[in-house]
Amino acid sequence: MRVLAIETSCDETGIAILEGAEKEGVFTFEILGNALLSQAALHAPYGGVFPSLAKREHEKNLPVMLEQACIEAAKNFSEKIVWPEGRSPRRPRGPKDFFSEKFLAALVSQLELDAIVVTHGPGLEPALWTGITFAQKLAKETATPLLGVNHMEGHLLSSLAQKGNSHILENVEITTREIRDVQFPVLGLLISGGHTEFVLMSDWFEYKIIGRTLDDAVGEAFDKVARLLGLPYPGGPEISKLADTARSSSVPALVSLPRPMLKSKNCDMSFSGLKTAALYALRGKTLNDAQKAAFAQEFEDTVGDVFVAKTRKALIETGAKTFVIGGGVAANRYLRERLQTLLLDEFDDVEFRLPELHITGDNAVMIAEAALVHLLREGIPTVDSEDIRAVGNLSLEK
Ligand code: KG4
Ligand code: ZN
Repeated sequence: MRVLAIETSCDETGIAILEGAEKEGVFTFEILGNALLSQAALHAPYGGVFPSLAKREHEKNLPVMLEQACIEAAKNFSEKIVWPEGRSPRRPRGPKDFFSEKFLAALVSQLELDAIVVTHGPGLEPALWTGITFAQKLAKETATPLLGVNHMEGHLLSSLAQKGNSHILENVEITTREIRDVQFPVLGLLISGGHTEFVLMSDWFEYKIIGRTLDDAVGEAFDKVARLLGLPYPGGPEISKLADTARSSSVPALVSLPRPMLKSKNCDMSFSGLKTAALYALRGKTLNDAQKAAFAQEFEDTVGDVFVAKTRKALIETGAKTFVIGGGVAANRYLRERLQTLLLDEFDDVEFRLPELHITGDNAVMIAEAALVHLLREGIPTVDSEDIRAVGNLSLEK
């Protein structure tokens, strides 16, 4: 089964073309084409994502990403793709040289897709709509079924997938990923710029949120603290790099930050107090590089302590057999290690699935993979593509 996936929920414009199959409970995904463009540099001066800018950029970039994904897929296809209107695969030269809808439809119809799938929430609604309207036009022009995908389900299911075998087709290496041997219940810790939640997955597509942040998402806290330290947006990777330098030296931290809700009886979390504590701790101070690094380390240690304590609680409470982390913050080297140590030391009967680093941040491959698991298990639904709506606060729970 072949799908084209579109992701525009935040500040990444992603389009991916995947082939998926299911055999004896093993899902295999082949990435035929994958185009991703981050707008992070454009949003950096605002210290976060600026919705109307994101919308404009998605609109501009979607046709370019589509052609790029098709160029890659064309190399990976055994059948030949012909570029419509006698053109050759290339980027447009300027605004007047843009791709017409007919051109894109003629290109996409050669991919022989079973479905087009698009993120319809959660996320920034103006950004989500750009992907949805683009997908709706494409689905109509090519008479292909259209399906809405939950962005968080994309993070969760794609994080369960692992690197599979690669093979060479006409001199091109085809990457394969697969989801196999999933033991339920699965506990997922989804950590991104908009979400921080524990999801219990008792079976395929059966989700219950058993704990969440009561205020800011952890990625937001990383970004805000980075800003206080004068680091660029997105701050997560910057904090991570700095904290690692501090760990290899031994500069003592200037302050000790609070560990919020560590003692509370449930799996909820809170990160806004941490941000405020960082604000007060840094107010009026000029830190040198080593002190900044020590501060970044203290912040990361705090987040690590919270995640370890809450994950321990969630694993005991749910009796989960599999633990998986997903979302942009799941790329964090130190947090991955802390959680790995927890599982090795205290839960050696629980399998820990760590996502490949290229899948943690927002991308369209994860949307394609979540959609493929649905389509391969449930078949292609009869949905009127015009009914798909952007839902900013879309939940995983039914
Ligand atoms: O999942 P994602 O790409 O977008 C959302 O759906 O929000 O997550 C983005 C978040 C940002 O806050 C970014 O700073 C954070 O993930 N992030 C990290 C790291 N890489 C990205 N946070 C901590 N450590 C990292 N290595
Ligand atoms: Zn995300």
